[in-house]
Amino acid sequence: MRILGIESSCDESAVAIIENGTTVLADRVSSQTALHAPYGGVVPELASRRHVEILNLLLEQALADAQLSYDDLDAIAVTRGPGLLGSLLVGVMCAKTLAWDLQIPLIGVHHLEAHLYANFLVFPELEPPLLTLLVSGGHSLLVLMEAHGRYRVLGQTLDDAVGEAYDKVARLLDLPYPGGPPIDREAQNGNPKAFDFPRAHLENPFDMSFSGLKTAVLYTVKRLQEKGEPLPVADLAASFQHAVVMALMKRIRLAVEETGVTQVAIAGGVAANSGLRNALEAEGQARGWQTFIPPRKYCTDNGVMIAAAGHHYFQQGRVSDLSLTAISRMPLPYV
Ligand code: KG4
Ligand code: ZN
Repeated sequence: MRILGIESSCDESAVAIIENGTTVLADRVSSQTALHAPYGGVVPELASRRHVEILNLLLEQALADAQLSYDDLDAIAVTRGPGLLGSLLVGVMCAKTLAWDLQIPLIGVHHLEAHLYANFLVFPELEPPLLTLLVSGGHSLLVLMEAHGRYRVLGQTLDDAVGEAYDKVARLLDLPYPGGPPIDREAQNGNPKAFDFPRAHLENPFDMSFSGLKTAVLYTVKRLQEKGEPLPVADLAASFQHAVVMALMKRIRLAVEETGVTQVAIAGGVAANSGLRNALEAEGQARGWQTFIPPRKYCTDNGVMIAAAGHHYFQQGRVSDLSLTAISRMPLPYV
């Protein structure tokens, strides 16, 4: 079965084709990073316009990569939410048109579930139960996947998402947008113990909070600037990253203890972070967990994960009809 996946929920337009849930036949991603960089964040109207301009081209490129024509497709999967409504609408309308014209099933996919399903594409032997730390620019959740399509959110951020905190701290350090990759790079050359940033202690120990950490970085930067000292960017980046990774790993450890589930995955854009990847791998080895760390290109937004989720939705009978709508706020699980 060949599924075409379309992603347009934020600032990546992406189209992919996969076969039988595991074989990637095409994987096209067009990032809008440069378009939004001057504004230091995603400008919704610009994002949806760019999706409109680029999606047809990506569709044609993906089909050419896979050496297929539209008639060779068996289903269309698309992100229906959560995300920017105008951006989501572009992908959803495109998918509905294709499904109607080709008379094939349409599958509306939850973007966060798709991040999770990236792991099932990369590790085909993987079976639930699975603990997943899902960390992106818009979301931070610790999810227990009890079975396919069945999720229990153990905790989530009460304020900023992890990626959002990276993007904001990057601005403070005069690093480019999006902030994750440059902070990650700077952190390699810095001392993670140079600054002792605070950790949040919350009522639900699985919940997360990153706005206090971001403010602590802000005050440290201001203090250094007032003294006229040059900013130790690498040390600040390394100390910030250390605080983030420690907070995330603490929650993962606790989740393993409480649930007894020792299959642990990471997903979402921040799962591309080298500090988090290394920490999970080391901890997994030390404690005998099975860890699942997808390649970086399947952590940030892509079409492959949408098609992979579509494959599992189809198997679960979760097929949409042409009345499918885009939904900007969409909790997990969505019922
Ligand atoms: O999943 P994603 O592509 O889009 C959303 O659904 O939000 O995640 C984007 C986020 C951005 O905030 C970006 O700064 C962050 O992922 N990110 C990283 C890294 N690469 C991307 N954060 C930390 N370290 C990285 N290496
Ligand atoms: Zn995402």
